[in-house]
Amino acid sequence: MGVIARHRERLPVTAATPELTLGEGGTPLVPAPRLSEQLGCELHLKCEGLNPTGSFKDRGMAVAVAKAVEEGSSGVVCASTGNTAASAAAYAARAGLPALVLHPTGAVATAKLAQARAVGARVLAVRGSFDDALAGCRELADSGSHTLVNSLNPYRLQGQKTAAFEIVDDLARPPDVVAMPFGGGGNLCAYALGFGELEDDALLVGCESSERATTLASAIRIAAPVHRDEVDGLVDSGRVRVETVDDAEIVDAWRELATLEGVFCEPSSAAGLAAVKKLDLEPGSVVVCVLTGHGLKDTDAVGLLTETPVEVDANLDSILAEVA
Ligand code: F0G
Repeated sequence: MGVIARHRERLPVTAATPELTLGEGGTPLVPAPRLSEQLGCELHLKCEGLNPTGSFKDRGMAVAVAKAVEEGSSGVVCASTGNTAASAAAYAARAGLPALVLHPTGAVATAKLAQARAVGARVLAVRGSFDDALAGCRELADSGSHTLVNSLNPYRLQGQKTAAFEIVDDLARPPDVVAMPFGGGGNLCAYALGFGELEDDALLVGCESSERATTLASAIRIAAPVHRDEVDGLVDSGRVRVETVDDAEIVDAWRELATLEGVFCEPSSAAGLAAVKKLDLEPGSVVVCVLTGHGLKDTDAVGLLTETPVEVDANLDSILAEVA
């Protein structure tokens, strides 16, 4: 069952909305005992990398593309650092709509582009940044030929808010803190919407890179977040707190998730944990880190965590010479 079927009563869908799904949502909330001990809290990991295309975008894309079909769209377009592209392409293919994706040239992990290409999207490499690519997409969408499925599309946030419902269901109580990366800010706004509908006042922590335009976490390499004003409003109302971390802190958190808990996410997804490590938590707080994308999305980055495997001969001496 996907997010439309599972959360229909809380989504802006009608009898005319196709129940488009690739089986998104219902991702596991995995306890993190070693990190919990280290932090003096009860930490859980919402593993959004286990969505069909390997990121949280699928929740929003199921709803956005279904609504595009309902509204008679002739195609979807997005700008992307990779995950939105992979997701838009897959849901468009599923719906029988053409997808066009624009990405900043040379700045997207190979696997993410492979996903978009494999399912038949038209992929254009834009000479410029993510922000430039988004500006181009907005112009194209405004000209009327394509439906924009970036998070400026309100249905994206509607779909993504469903993760908040699942977290509260799985914990059987509202969490105290929910932390996640803050790239464009759409997901932070979506969680605020979801927890707001539940009238839960969990503190949402958005973690942005101090190196926004150049961070090694390529998924959140966004200089000018489109939801900045909304996020500022949520900060003013006390709903959201924004923490800033540098790349070294992101890599440390990423390594700890992998080596202490066995959970392999992409680098940007570790930003939530990097932020949690900076908070002054009440002992025993229930904390959720949203791991937004799967580690297999960006395997080149693993070179930062570990050395390349050493070559040996297939005999005991040769193996023991390395491991003894
Ligand atoms: N984590 C991952 C893995 C992402 O791919 C993104 C955004 C974010 C976090 C940030 O989410 O923008 O809602 O604050 N990726 C976009 C993309 C930009 O094109 O895939 P946000």
